[in-house]
Amino acid sequence: MSATAITPVPVVVVGAGGMGRTWLRVVLQAQEARLVGVVDVLEGAAERAVDELVPAERRTEIVTGTDAVTVARQASAEAVIDVTIPAAHHPVTADALHAGYPVLGEKPCAATLAEAVSLAGHAEATGRLFMVSQSRRNNPHLHEARRLAEELGGVGIVDTRFAKAPRFGGFRDAMEHPLLVDMAIHAFDAGRVLIDGNPVAVTATTYNPSWSWYAGDAAATVAITYDTGAVHTYSGSWAAPGRETSWNGDWQLSCASGSVHWDGENPPTAQPEVGEQIDGRAPSERSRWELDASLAEFCAALRGASVPDSEVHGNVWTQAIVEAAVRSADAGRRVQLAEVLDEALAEARELDLADGRSHALSAWKTGIAGLRTW
Ligand SMILES: NC(=O)c1ccc[n+]([C@@H]2O[C@H](COP(=O)([O-])OP(=O)(O)OC[C@H]3O[C@@H](n4cnc5c(N)ncnc54)[C@H](O)[C@@H]3O)[C@@H](O)[C@H]2O)c1
Repeated sequence: MSATAITPVPVVVVGAGGMGRTWLRVVLQAQEARLVGVVDVLEGAAERAVDELVPAERRTEIVTGTDAVTVARQASAEAVIDVTIPAAHHPVTADALHAGYPVLGEKPCAATLAEAVSLAGHAEATGRLFMVSQSRRNNPHLHEARRLAEELGGVGIVDTRFAKAPRFGGFRDAMEHPLLVDMAIHAFDAGRVLIDGNPVAVTATTYNPSWSWYAGDAAATVAITYDTGAVHTYSGSWAAPGRETSWNGDWQLSCASGSVHWDGENPPTAQPEVGEQIDGRAPSERSRWELDASLAEFCAALRGASVPDSEVHGNVWTQAIVEAAVRSADAGRRVQLAEVLDEALAEARELDLADGRSHALSAWKTGIAGLRTW
């Protein structure tokens, strides 16, 4: 994606934790957005982040507080960036949408698939854009890998290997499925950039190596089948000291007349069945990456450009893959996305009934049908 001159969108960043601070740096450098507010539910946290990150001469322009909608109104914001913890994504995003603010939210879309489906309904009910920033899909090398695969007849099998050994401490060490839920979601989403069509079913096995420092399963093997017949296989471990892959993983794409390899960091290469290896193109200097690209796409959409692929309805598929993978691993069987999406739809309707602000999901015939109409 390249930079285009648009009137900057005044935004409020909600959540001033680790990732919120990363977002603040991105917004402060972006031409498409202007920081007008910072919010954190912890008293004083927003102020501290502003003091640390915003240049002194700009601090007086920035409203701070503990409630997103209040600050957005006071700051005359046009949009909200939700970088709160996953458990807060649903209330923060729904409140902002109903107050009239489009939202760019950090992944995951919400803490549960049902909450994610509910947010798709809130976006419909309010007519506001809710885009999820699934930052690793915004990698020019990934899109170059897709282009090379198209030249070889299109991809039929995508294989991702992931090996890392981070010692995070904190919540990941206690999660039941740290790799699947917190990390593999990026690879599942990136797979959707490479493969046409929609995911249909997931088979997953998870395990924890004897030397693992995680309480839950730090390793997984997953197969995701698409309605086009293509398959994404993933094997990863977060307790894999030794020869590690990049954070994006190592990718091998099998196509009708050759293969594409991407190490997750450098331009991909293609090996046609006949002929020499083809080096993928290096990204241009104007290419946008990761969060910066999400922000540019979101702001452009607010200024009239097309609806982003990661608009909530598009992103829910990725969260559904994770939910299906967890269920498959726990139950020891292949899980259809239709199953998890229909259950999530039923649960989301209950949530919305109690909340009272959105009736949009009553028009969804099934979970999949509701996502497909967008
Ligand atoms: N894209 C990536 O690579 C990436 C990397 C790290 C984190 N994340 C995502 O970013 C989000 C935030 O993660 P983090 O690591 O910054 O967490 P964090 O715990 O460091 O920070 C979250 C902040 O949100 C605040 N908060 C909670 N509820 C709130 C509410 N209702 N209103 C306002 N503020 C509230 C908390 O007080 C905290 O300061 C998560 O969804 C996480 O999955 C994405």
